[in-house]
Amino acid sequence: MSKIPKELIKVVDVNIGEKEIEEVIKVVKSKNLTEGKNTHEFELKFAKFTGAKYATTVVNGTSALHLALTALGIGPGDEVITTPFTFIAASNAITFNGAIPIFVDVDKHTYNIDPEKIREAITDKTKAIMPVHIFGNPSNMKEIMEIANEHDLKVIEDCAQAHDAKISGKHVGNFGTLGVFSFYGTKNLIGGEGGAILSNDDDLHEKIESLKNHGRNPNGGYNHYQIGYNYRITEMSAAIMNVQMDRAREILDRRHQNGVLYRKLLDDQDGIKIQKLLPNHSHSDYVFAPVITKKDITPQKIISYLKKKNIASRIIYSILSYQQPCYTNISEWIFAKIVNYPDYTKVSCPNAEYIASHHFELPMVSTLSDENIFHIVDSVKFFLDSESI
Ligand SMILES: Cc1ncc(COP(=O)(O)O)c(C=O)c1O
Repeated sequence: MSKIPKELIKVVDVNIGEKEIEEVIKVVKSKNLTEGKNTHEFELKFAKFTGAKYATTVVNGTSALHLALTALGIGPGDEVITTPFTFIAASNAITFNGAIPIFVDVDKHTYNIDPEKIREAITDKTKAIMPVHIFGNPSNMKEIMEIANEHDLKVIEDCAQAHDAKISGKHVGNFGTLGVFSFYGTKNLIGGEGGAILSNDDDLHEKIESLKNHGRNPNGGYNHYQIGYNYRITEMSAAIMNVQMDRAREILDRRHQNGVLYRKLLDDQDGIKIQKLLPNHSHSDYVFAPVITKKDITPQKIISYLKKKNIASRIIYSILSYQQPCYTNISEWIFAKIVNYPDYTKVSCPNAEYIASHHFELPMVSTLSDENIFHIVDSVKFFLDSESI
């Protein structure tokens, strides 16, 4: 057995260096605290990084999702098909405009929305599909876009966890109508709070720029030609994001190294199944969370065992979105006064339910060493192979 490290191997870590600290101090000293130089520089860098025509910065990923839906005209009573195995932001953003989240099951190998289930869920009220590249694993965008094109649906890619995830070399967020990212404090690239919307369409981009800023005329001033929000970011967060873009390769390549090593060492381990990538898909390596297949082993059991080995591990989404009280009690939502929401207690997604109750997250942070991973893998294997535990 490998040696237990003195310090806990963390499941979440924040990779902030001296440069980020310096740049935030510079911003504060300059007293230019609202969107400015850093925000604009970040946008250019992020557009270049993702290969998109435009990137618009917003205050967080949730507002980016909301803004994307608004820009695409998704409103009361419209149905948006999405996955229940994700952070609640995806479905909540849909409800912000009175639209209806329609939850369909995920593929048991990729943990991502199953295109066949999307097909089955389409009605004459369906307006959009919101795939989430969960844990940073790209969804089956080829099939999703075929379905969207067949039925004239918009696609909002939730790439909150998918910085640097690609399909055939093309960055996610460029396949759908719009792509949405989060720079929340624990994501692959961070700003504390932060979000961005990718677009490749001039008119949509202009609309998004205005919507995030109270529906202002693009020339600024106090002319408001449409209702909009204040989803502007602070220059302090943008300064961090700007430096993170300069450090992106250093941060992300270490994560990819971790992912490659984990997948190699645990690919055919009895007792668990790891998240599968489709051919030509590359992972952002945001989260590595195997699913237990061995009977009588619970995530809690393995998590407690790993803790003794100084390894942090956790369950992320044990409650699916449609099982959350905010959906089982949807009649309390303000839009329920005018929108007929489905009875979410009747929704059943067996694959998502299995994954939710059987996954455990292993450390995947950019500060891990190969030695840490060998220790983690040794411990997982020992636990799974041992009859006595
Ligand atoms: C899949 C997913 N979508 C959306 C969001 C929302 O982003 P934010 O926290 O920046 O609002 C998050 C996470 O934070 C997320 O993980």
